[in-house]
Amino acid sequence: MWGKRRTIIGLDWAGDTAKAIRVRIGGTHPRLCDFSLKSVSHAGQLGPLLRELGFGGGKNRIHCSIPSREVHIRHLELPYQNESELRSTLPFEIRRHVPAAAGTEMTVAHQIVGRDRDQHRMSVLVVLAPTGAAERYRDRLQESGVRLRRVEPAPLAAVNHLIHSRTETRDGSCWGLLEVGATGSWIALAREGGPLFVRSIHVGGASFTQELVVRCGLSRGEADSVKRADVALAKLRPEWRERTAALPQLLRHTLDQLAEEVSSCLNEYRIRNGPVRRLYLAGGGALIHGIDSVLQSRLALPVHLIDPFEIFDLPDSWPERKKDLLSEIGPQFLVAAGLTRWWES
Ligand SMILES: Nc1ncnc2c1ncn2[C@@H]1O[C@H](COP(=O)(O)OP(=O)(O)OP(=O)(O)O)[C@@H](O)[C@H]1O
Ligand SMILES: [Mg+2]
Repeated sequence: MWGKRRTIIGLDWAGDTAKAIRVRIGGTHPRLCDFSLKSVSHAGQLGPLLRELGFGGGKNRIHCSIPSREVHIRHLELPYQNESELRSTLPFEIRRHVPAAAGTEMTVAHQIVGRDRDQHRMSVLVVLAPTGAAERYRDRLQESGVRLRRVEPAPLAAVNHLIHSRTETRDGSCWGLLEVGATGSWIALAREGGPLFVRSIHVGGASFTQELVVRCGLSRGEADSVKRADVALAKLRPEWRERTAALPQLLRHTLDQLAEEVSSCLNEYRIRNGPVRRLYLAGGGALIHGIDSVLQSRLALPVHLIDPFEIFDLPDSWPERKKDLLSEIGPQFLVAAGLTRWWES
């Protein structure tokens, strides 16, 4: 890897927490220069935030995720056809297979991911976004002084990071990635050379907070602190001192719902593609203590928390404390890391 050196900013923001990283690529190894995690409620705050971090200036290329709720990713199994036939049939197939596309003008990108001449079948990955959604998003950020080089759906950035950083994702077996975000989650299931399946799941970080509000009589702010293990429940509500107060126990209803939704996606994928061998876990919700072991036992498959930073060199000057923090919050940065496309050195 000795390409031209350049600095890329990966910015992952969907209205809640902005995750930004600055990566230097093009040397022997990609290098993480800086990272930031900040609560940002509107696009206008992003420009000042990036400038404050020294991320905004001139030659830096900023790559941003487009919120996953705006994007539909579907894998279609179609009769075998050549590229020009596909272009003419695709709009009809999309109308048939993606009900959400009806009545809205959609911009479509597609990629052929598999062909089987003998069976006269082919697999096509289709990415749809309401026409103008990416442009509107780009404009909103531009107004706040953020000039974007690239806008990409969050699941694609995350899946690409895994494919390029972990050899076991290329061993022909099926694997999954579950991203637990603020208001919802999404799951991607993949196999090298096989279809990519992406579904959104309505359980997210807010659902866990809500369970604590209802179960323990906490305010939303208190529940959020307990969820993050910043404060012990018994400290806020002494009556809980005598009762079981381990987080997975307090959050069991939401964890059950999440496991159930994931399980039904795994079953759907398994029918056509074979068993899913492992599940990677990412997003801010992946930081809930014990969520990985609960999912592992409910789903009966290995669940691994993802640290996307492990493939980057870190500045020697960083203290151990900063490096520890980095690996703790790593799962929340998977999309930001994938957006930098560090493998294109
Ligand atoms: N240390 C932590 N422990 C538990 N939960 C956490 C922790 N840090 C963040 N969270 C939760 O993670 C969620 C935010 O995650 P994330 O940053 O991945 O979401 P987002 O990208 O802003 O949202 P989305 O992708 O759904 O649009 C919030 O619900 C937050 O409370
Ligand atoms: Mg997110």
